[in-house]
Amino acid sequence: MRLRYLYFVLCCQVLCVSGDPDAGSRTWARFLKLPYPEDEAFLYDTFPDDFMWSVGTAAYQTEGAFQKDGKGLSIWDTFTSAGNRGTGEVASDSYHNVHRDIHLIQKLKVTHYRFSISWPRIFPNGTIGSYNEAGASYYINLIHRLKRIGVEPVVTLYHWDLPDTLQRLYGGWSNPILADLFKEYAEFCFRTFGDNVKFWITIDNPFVVAWHGYGTGMVAPGIKGDPGLPFRAGHTLIKAHAAVWHLYDNKFRQKQGGKVSIALGSHWISPRKKSKENIKACQCSLDFVLGWFAKPLFIDGDYPTCMKKNLSSNLPSFTETEKREIRNTTDFFALSFGSVLSFQLINDSLKFGQTESLSLRMVLYWINAEYNSPKIFIVENGWFVNGNTKTEDAKNMYYMKRFIMETLKSIKYDNVSVIGYTAWSLVDGFEWYREYNIRRGLYYVDFLSPDLRREPKSSAFFYQKLIEKNGFPLLPENEPITGVFPCNFTWGTAANSIQVETIPSQFNDPNVYVWDKSGNKKPEKVEGVVVPLRKTRCGDYASIRYQVSRLHRMHITHFQFSLNWPSLVPTGNVSQVKTTLLLYYKCFVSELQRANVTPVVTLWHRTAQHSGLPAPLVKNKGWQNTDTVQAFVAYARLCFKELGDHVKYWITLNEPNIRDEQKTFLEGHNLLKAHALAWHVYDEEFRRAQKGQVSITLHADWVEPAYPFSRNDVEPANRVLEFRIGWFAEPIFGNGDYPQLMREWLQQRNNLDLYDYHLPHFTEEERKLVQGTYDFFALSHYTTSLVFEEVEEKTQYNTYLEVHFIPDTTWLKSPKRGAVVPWGLRKVLNWVKSRYGDVPIYIMSNGVDDDQTETDDKLRLYYMENYINEALKASVLDGVNLQGYFAYAFDDQSDPGFGLYGYIHDEFYIKLSLGHYRKIIDKNGFPSPTAPKQDCTLELYSCPGCSLFFTKKSMITFLSFIGICFVITVGLVMYYSKKPSKRYQY
Ligand SMILES: *[C@@H]1O[C@H](CO)[C@@H](O)[C@H](O)[C@H]1NC(C)=O
Ligand SMILES: *[C@@H]1O[C@H](CO)[C@@H](O)[C@H](O)[C@H]1NC(C)=O
Repeated sequence: MRLRYLYFVLCCQVLCVSGDPDAGSRTWARFLKLPYPEDEAFLYDTFPDDFMWSVGTAAYQTEGAFQKDGKGLSIWDTFTSAGNRGTGEVASDSYHNVHRDIHLIQKLKVTHYRFSISWPRIFPNGTIGSYNEAGASYYINLIHRLKRIGVEPVVTLYHWDLPDTLQRLYGGWSNPILADLFKEYAEFCFRTFGDNVKFWITIDNPFVVAWHGYGTGMVAPGIKGDPGLPFRAGHTLIKAHAAVWHLYDNKFRQKQGGKVSIALGSHWISPRKKSKENIKACQCSLDFVLGWFAKPLFIDGDYPTCMKKNLSSNLPSFTETEKREIRNTTDFFALSFGSVLSFQLINDSLKFGQTESLSLRMVLYWINAEYNSPKIFIVENGWFVNGNTKTEDAKNMYYMKRFIMETLKSIKYDNVSVIGYTAWSLVDGFEWYREYNIRRGLYYVDFLSPDLRREPKSSAFFYQKLIEKNGFPLLPENEPITGVFPCNFTWGTAANSIQVETIPSQFNDPNVYVWDKSGNKKPEKVEGVVVPLRKTRCGDYASIRYQVSRLHRMHITHFQFSLNWPSLVPTGNVSQVKTTLLLYYKCFVSELQRANVTPVVTLWHRTAQHSGLPAPLVKNKGWQNTDTVQAFVAYARLCFKELGDHVKYWITLNEPNIRDEQKTFLEGHNLLKAHALAWHVYDEEFRRAQKGQVSITLHADWVEPAYPFSRNDVEPANRVLEFRIGWFAEPIFGNGDYPQLMREWLQQRNNLDLYDYHLPHFTEEERKLVQGTYDFFALSHYTTSLVFEEVEEKTQYNTYLEVHFIPDTTWLKSPKRGAVVPWGLRKVLNWVKSRYGDVPIYIMSNGVDDDQTETDDKLRLYYMENYINEALKASVLDGVNLQGYFAYAFDDQSDPGFGLYGYIHDEFYIKLSLGHYRKIIDKNGFPSPTAPKQDCTLELYSCPGCSLFFTKKSMITFLSFIGICFVITVGLVMYYSKKPSKRYQY
């Protein structure tokens, strides 16, 4: 599959990128056609060996010391001192903490560090005449220290902190004279620091400087009102950059050998509806932000056509000489992407009616297509967390993971030349117009502590580990294995309910219904009226025949479905059973059996309506009332009695452990009792005659600690598992009581007086009743989530468990947002094994929703392939006693979007995944192509259920057993063959 994908990608490279104007506009169409879901799945791979891993800061955000050692004021000093704003006067106080910050940089193991020089620190009034040596020394010192730890500096000359004098005297960047002054300042920097600097960035994000500094007034100098002003400022910024690039190219490049560029920020945007006009609008939106600066500098020295058309006289123009001077003045593409522009600074007027989104990968692809495949250095990227978040910055960390994953895919799948990545930022600091209300650092800064203490955040650990591994290398445990399941492995499918053929109303009278076992098909007379041929034989039910044939086509051996308790016993009283429905079920299971499909029948499962209970029981407080328990037991007995000849596998309750809002622990207690009592009824009254098995199915999605390197999160993950699975599993499969951890946790909560949770106690009698009421462990599993301790942000997700759930944004998602995480299944199977030993386990439901309009359900196919492979690992590598797998769901009718059979216009159709499942079943797993065919005839010689014979270890045991038998036999034969002769001697 991967190979086919690469082939596709290669073809696309040739066809899709050719470098003509507006070449980027093909990006949207291209990303609609990528191989799904492979392209969206996690990519295990590493970055090129010389990839640059960097982290960055900006002077005004971190340095502080705003008047120290002769520094002049910048426009940000004056901008923030007006009114009640937070300021960068102290910020992270990096000026006084070079040593400490260097240490942090070293710990991250980055290869590059991006920082900016504060222009007014070196030239307090902006001109060379005001040169301040102390300021220059600070940067010399910083660069030397970086060099000493082997980290290359990436130096920004201008990161928004213009000397205030230049704003006051000349009106800042709106005055063309700034280009000359900037060149003077740049020349000083090249001369002073250039021997040690290989990467220069002239200006950071000229879009924000021009548009928001001189247009909206959101950032310093905070000017607004003149629609032409931002474009005049932008005009100067472009000329200033070009002049500085030429200066370097002419006077310094040869000796210093560095590269110079400008950091351009971009958002990403997608067409609201797919049409030529909308794509044009998207293209225009990017041109107004990124193209404004990128097109003159990277292509032809002129503004994008779309800007010129829209702005007319507000947009200055370049002379031909200027154009020649401006174009081609970059040595690489320095891209800034993430929170600075996205969703914050792009106002509606720049979106042209389209939808902003967050795809770094598409931006990279667009730049590559639009600007003739430049080398791209991501010089700023990241997300942010709330200002009150401390070191557990999950949101930031998973955004970073996602952006880096997209960068990797861009390199590997899209053939874009990305040469470096810069995480933003090293430490928390002053966040421009958002002041200290958000944090973007990898290191937490305690702004209230006297020494502005730094502490690594989760994202720092994450980034460090990632750099160490140079990406996401494929680990052995992530690779699929080959191998097969044991010979008697159960392959099934599951449905919530079965389709019940409509039974004509006169047949609701059980006396009318003729249960004709003889197969007599003649019309019959009932109460003097001749009725046409009725469903007198089970085989006459067209719907049953049809369902059985559909099951047959799947090659499954088992079918799990739920009876409809409210329909079967509408009053809740079993003396008033709906006989016709009962007979229908009887027919259904006997026909299944006749067709060699083993029915697995579930007595109760929660439904949206009435919690799956007969209406009178719901009125009577449902599972909170012990009468419901008694009603359930009577209903179970009825089912065992009526259907038990054909049913050998029973599930009492399906997923009783899904905790919803109203559910109390008392309800859980009653559900446990109902299960246990039903189990005992079977055990005592039916087991001997019917020889079946009874158990319960527990919902068992996996929960993974959100911070892979923090032990603190193991505890919350455990807590969730105990409350979700252990709640029901421990009383039945374990020690007969609720998990200790559950009791302790609730006790603790109750002590806080905020809560009043009642986890019932088992009497000794109840404990005996419940413990051990199983014949196997059945679980349903669909997805995995991440969890961490809820200590900092109190949000709506905060539950009594005090945990916070988040998605890993690199995980593949289903249309209903279910995360596809195959290894979660292996983990949960091992969890069960670690708790309850070698209990036989059935995966009673496992499946995913997919686009319902597609017969090509590729996501499900991918899901199935990978989840079953993880189940195989659990079985073969981990020795989990796994007995069976049931694909959920049988068809879309029972759960829309989940089915292996689709359902449209009253017709069923086969989806792609069904054929794939059948293949897996036929091969009993994933046999290696070179391995001999699995020989299941051996099964005849071993006992049924001794599937363990087929693992290598047990095979050796088995063979040694045979060997020992052989030796003993030979010995005995020899002994007895000798004996007579001895005897005869006497
Ligand atoms: C900046 O300061 C220097 C030295 O004090 C002075 O000579 C120069 O005129 C000043 N320039 C401006 C633009 O204020
Ligand atoms: C751009 O500049 C590079 C060297 O700096 C040169 O090799 C290249 O030919 C130039 N491209 C154009 C279109 O002028």
